[in-house]
Amino acid sequence: MQLALLLAAYLLGSIPFAVVVSRLFGMADPRSYGSGNPGATNVLRSGNKLAAILTLLGDGFKGWLAVFLAARFGPELGLPDSAAPIAALAAFLGHLFPVFLGFKGGKGVATAAGVLLGASGWLGLATLGVWLGVAVTTRYSSLAALCAAVASPGIAFLLGLAPAWILSISIMSGLLVWRHTDNIKRLLSGQESRIGSKKKDA
Ligand code: G3P
Repeated sequence: MQLALLLAAYLLGSIPFAVVVSRLFGMADPRSYGSGNPGATNVLRSGNKLAAILTLLGDGFKGWLAVFLAARFGPELGLPDSAAPIAALAAFLGHLFPVFLGFKGGKGVATAAGVLLGASGWLGLATLGVWLGVAVTTRYSSLAALCAAVASPGIAFLLGLAPAWILSISIMSGLLVWRHTDNIKRLLSGQESRIGSKKKDA
């Protein structure tokens, strides 16, 4: 049963909303322009704000849903309390390594936000606050995501979340930073594009 839950959460996380929404809107595949990342920030570079918002909501919702379902039905299925943080990690890994995109997925920011909101409303809001503060002051989506990711395990600890959650969030945070390696290089060299700038070649 635990394996079935893991697989379900992974498959849920694998749904690539950036690609799905872009196809529904008749737009170019986000992997073909900008940073090449199948995520909301890159879809925004197409100039279609609605598509970017729907991508953000879809990628966030799947993370939240994986946690909600595991927390809601895990106890009834006889699963331990760690089922929710494990499902969260599985959904996050699904977004990063989606079976539907040949295991080449996104950077996990929106999905992590959904997961954190599912784990604890205050954790989600505080982490979103960090993202928003950095995004508004610098207009770098990647820098905002990096700061929020680095802050999230500490915030989770301060809020008294269970050790399984702290571990799950720490792993997600590390993976998210790793997925932003190219962004970090561009930030350091002053080449990173800011929120609102239009698409350039991948
Ligand atoms: O949501 C991902 C963001 O942090 C960076 O995206 O497209 O600028 O690499 P991007």
